[in-house]
Amino acid sequence: MQVPFFTTTREYQQYKADFDHAIQSVLDRGDFVLGQAVREFEQQMQSYSQAQYAVGVANGSDALVLASDILGYKNGAEVLTPTFTFFASTSCLARLGAKPVFTDVDTDTFNMDVADAAQRITAQTKGILPVHLFAQMADMTGIMDLAQSHNLTVLEDSAEAVGMKQEYRGEYKMGGTIGDMGVYSFFPTKTLGGYGDGGMLVCNDLKLAEQAKSLRVHGSRERYIHELVGYNSRLDSLQAAILSVKLSRIEKSIAQRAKLAELYREQLSDVEQVQLPVIKPGNKEVYYVFNLKVEKRDELNAFLQENGIGTSIYYPIPLHLQKCFKHLGYKKGDFPVAEKLCTQVLSLPMYPELQTDELSYVCDKIKEFYR
Ligand SMILES: Cc1ncc(COP(=O)(O)O)c(C=O)c1O
Repeated sequence: MQVPFFTTTREYQQYKADFDHAIQSVLDRGDFVLGQAVREFEQQMQSYSQAQYAVGVANGSDALVLASDILGYKNGAEVLTPTFTFFASTSCLARLGAKPVFTDVDTDTFNMDVADAAQRITAQTKGILPVHLFAQMADMTGIMDLAQSHNLTVLEDSAEAVGMKQEYRGEYKMGGTIGDMGVYSFFPTKTLGGYGDGGMLVCNDLKLAEQAKSLRVHGSRERYIHELVGYNSRLDSLQAAILSVKLSRIEKSIAQRAKLAELYREQLSDVEQVQLPVIKPGNKEVYYVFNLKVEKRDELNAFLQENGIGTSIYYPIPLHLQKCFKHLGYKKGDFPVAEKLCTQVLSLPMYPELQTDELSYVCDKIKEFYR
């Protein structure tokens, strides 16, 4: 059996008529750049996330750069951010000349260790950039308390967190809507993934939203009048149309991910070499990826791949040990939890169209490996 780690083709075939109609509408109108489909999708995301403002941009990485620029994470400002994440969570800071100050992560949730972050605050600290990884959000109460007590802003990297919620001051809130600004990625593999690149910035402050709208079109609100040196970073109308189709079914697809996660849990619960995802109280999780901690990770990974099973490793190298961040002066051993996770984590196939017999095959092969 061949089990792809990820595929869009099953979903496309299932809802072909809807996707084709959405794409054709954009082609018929010809409004490819910031057209009607983008405006509609931005409104739909405002209502889904409950953020007051949503600004579509070219991808999640750009959304992080624009937000960092707006929040002043540049010119030597220090920003606390976890070392165990995707590269873009930190490159946005480095690109603008801010100084990433890495923190370690929680061994169960893989998210920012807030106590560790607290110890790294200095007079130069400007903000906190937490990342919501895999299935649940970072501890936003702890992060917001820390930020408020030191007068810091918070940029939530919610690239993976569409649909994830956490109880915050008595109310469940979606990732990206608690801090000053949040960003989403619509990279195809994401819970709300397009058929190409896409991203979004959300916030509850009109001034920040207007800056984002200006920055995405070269720092211009009126044609050929430039108030700021901005970027060219806009959500493509075709992607917005595709994303609207997907957003209309998001609750169903999140529920299907939950069902698959439950099946993985049932079938792997007696494998003692495998630690299943641990969800902390107060979270409404969404399984963007199903990430295990396993023994003999590299051998298991090779075995699964030999047996036709697609897997992925999020993430094999912590950011403080990346060559391009050498100048920051970190060394091996600085973040023991993150470094250990990089040798243990393994992601299994997780998408709504994954079939239960495929999932059972994956679990059987994991059991066979450890027998
Ligand atoms: C945590 C995190 N941050 C940022 C990004 C960047 O998003 P994009 O690929 O849309 O640029 C991703 C996804 O790729 C991500 O997983």
